[in-house]
Amino acid sequence: CGIVGYIGPREAYPIIIEGLKRLEYRGYDSAGIALFDGTDLKVSKTKGKVVDLEARSEKEITKHGSVGIGHTRWATHGVPNDVNSHPHVSNSGDLVIIHNGIIENYESLKQELISRGYTFQSDTDTEVLINLIEDVKKQENVKLGKAVQIALNQVIGAYAIAVFDKNKPEEVVIARLGSPLAIGVGEDEFFIASDASPFLEYTKNAIYLEDEEMAIIRFHKGIKIRKIKDDSLVDPYIQKLKINLEEIEKGGFDHFMLKEIHEQPKAITDTYRGRLLRQEAIIKMAGIEDNMKKFLNADRIIIVACGTSWHAGLVAEYIFEDLARVPVEVEYASEFRYRNPIITEKDVLIAISQSGETADTLAAIKLAKSKGAFVFGVCNVVGSSIARETHAGAYTHAGPEIGVASTKAFTTQITVLTLIALRLARAKGTISSSDFRHHLLELEMIPKKVEESLKSDAHIQKIAEIYKDVSNFLYLGRGYNFPVALEGALKLKEISYIHAEGYPAAEMKHGPIALIDENMPIVVIATKKGHYEKVVSNIQEIKSRKGKIIGIVTEGDVQVKELADHVIEVPETLESLSPLLTTIPLQLLSYHIAVMLGKNVDQPRNLAKSVTVE
Ligand code: G6P
Repeated sequence: CGIVGYIGPREAYPIIIEGLKRLEYRGYDSAGIALFDGTDLKVSKTKGKVVDLEARSEKEITKHGSVGIGHTRWATHGVPNDVNSHPHVSNSGDLVIIHNGIIENYESLKQELISRGYTFQSDTDTEVLINLIEDVKKQENVKLGKAVQIALNQVIGAYAIAVFDKNKPEEVVIARLGSPLAIGVGEDEFFIASDASPFLEYTKNAIYLEDEEMAIIRFHKGIKIRKIKDDSLVDPYIQKLKINLEEIEKGGFDHFMLKEIHEQPKAITDTYRGRLLRQEAIIKMAGIEDNMKKFLNADRIIIVACGTSWHAGLVAEYIFEDLARVPVEVEYASEFRYRNPIITEKDVLIAISQSGETADTLAAIKLAKSKGAFVFGVCNVVGSSIARETHAGAYTHAGPEIGVASTKAFTTQITVLTLIALRLARAKGTISSSDFRHHLLELEMIPKKVEESLKSDAHIQKIAEIYKDVSNFLYLGRGYNFPVALEGALKLKEISYIHAEGYPAAEMKHGPIALIDENMPIVVIATKKGHYEKVVSNIQEIKSRKGKIIGIVTEGDVQVKELADHVIEVPETLESLSPLLTTIPLQLLSYHIAVMLGKNVDQPRNLAKSVTVE
C-alpha cells in the first residue's frame, strides 16, 4: 500500500492525489483521502484506482484544506470495497488513520474494544487500530502522540501509519515498523510518503523513519521523532535526495514496462560502471572487498528472494558454482524463514530484492542474522529497509522501476551477481586470468547486444498477434537459461493472465509433454552455447507432437530455424551471460500480448510492486 500526507500552507488535495498516483505501483485496489477543510474532517474513499477516487471526491467533498492524508491500498484484511478502503475514522469521528501492513492480533484487540462498546464498519485491522488509539487517548487522558505510542506497544504486526485528530489538525502523527515511511521537509511544510516520489518536486530534503520510530509533525513547530518502545528522542537525520522526477516518468513510452525494457542497455551499464575496470582487469566492489574474508571462508552461499528476484538468484546459482566453485542454495524467502533452516556463522546469505522492502525477504535476513550468518543485500532502491538491514551490499543502479512486472531490475540483478561471482572467482583462483579478462570484455559488450535484441520488437509483435488468444504457454530452457524460462512464464502470467509454465527442457518429457498438441505454443531457449544439441532434441520431441515452437536462438542459427515455427535471434555471447540477452525477447513477447489483450500492463490485477506483507 502507499501513503501520502501533507501539512503546510498549500492545498493538500492535489499534492496527495498526484502523490498517490505515483505510489499506485504499491497497490491499487482502492484509494482514499482525508482532509481537514478548516472546520471539519472530510473523507472520501472508494474501491478502485486513484482516478476513481478523484471522480468520487469531486461529488463528495469540498477538496479544500491544508492538512490531509491519502492512501492507495493492496488488500490484506477484507475484500477491496468502499468500506474497507482507507482512511478509517474512529467511533467518535475525531481521529482518522491510514495504514500499510498487518496488525496480527487485531481479532483479540477488536473483541476487547467491542466489549467496551466500540462498533466496527469494516473488516479491517486498521479500523481496530484507530479505535484502540482513541480508547487509549480517552482512558489515559493523553495527547494523540502518546496515545499512538501506547497503542502501538500493544500491537503485534507491521505498519506504517499516519493519524490526525480533527480537533487538532495542525499535527499529524506517523509511525513505522516494517513498512517504509519518509518525511519530506520543505520550508514550513511537511510531506509524508511511502517513498520520496510524491514530494520530489517540492523538496529534496527527506527523513526516513527507522523501524520502531514515530514522528509527531506540527505545522510551524517542526518534527519530533521518538522510539516507540522506550520513548527516547531521536535526532532527525535529513538526507539530500539525488533522484529527479523525470527519472520516474514515462518519457514517451506507452507504458512504464516498455520504457524499462528499453532502458536495460543503460541500466546494465550503470550497474557495472565504476566496478568493472577492463583496462586494469579488475572488478572493484566495496561491499565485497571489505568483506572478502567472509566470502572466502563461506562453506556455502544461500540466496533468498521472491518472485523475479528469486529467478535472478537461480541464474546466480549457476554463475557462482560455475565460476567461483562455491556451493549455492537458492530459496524462496517465504519458505526459508518458516522451515527452521540450518544456518551457521560460516554461511553467507545473499538477499536479492528490487524494492528492498519485501517482507518475506526482510524476515529471512533477520533470521539469518540472528544465527550469525553474514548477510549481503542486492537491492535497487537506495536506503530501502533491506539495504539497511544487511551487513553489506551492492546496489543494482537500475533507476526507479515502476512497472509492476520486473524487467530491468532482473537483468541488473544478474549483472551485479555476475560481477560478484567473477570477483570471488578471481580471489579464489577458480578462473584463469585470461578467462577473467574475456568475461569482462564480453560483459562490457552486453548493453550493445541488448540494444540489438530490442530490435526484434516488430517481429515479436507479429508473433504476439498469432498467439495472443491461446490459454496456455510453455517455456523451456536448460542450464543458465532454465531460470530464464521460469521468468518468461512469470512475465506472461503476470501481465496477460495467460497460464504459462516454465520448465527445464529435459524435464518436459516427465509431465508437460502430455499437454502438447497443435494448440500449445512453446517458447524454447536454444542458444548456441549450452546444451544446444540437447535442446534441439527436445525441440524434435515437441515437433513430433505438433506443438508450436517459438525458438530463441543465436544469430545465424540454422538447425532450430528449420524445425521451429518462429525464431527470434539474439547476439552471441558467453553462456554465463546469455540470460541477459535471452530474457529480452521474452519480456517483449509478454508485453505485446498483454497490450493486445487490453490488459493494464503496468498495474496488473491483484499484484503489487512492493509487497510489505508476508
Ligand atoms: C512482487 C512483484 C514482483 C517481484 C517480487 C519481489 O511480487 O510483483 O515483480 O519480483 O514482489 O520483489 P522485490 O522487490 O523483493 O524484488
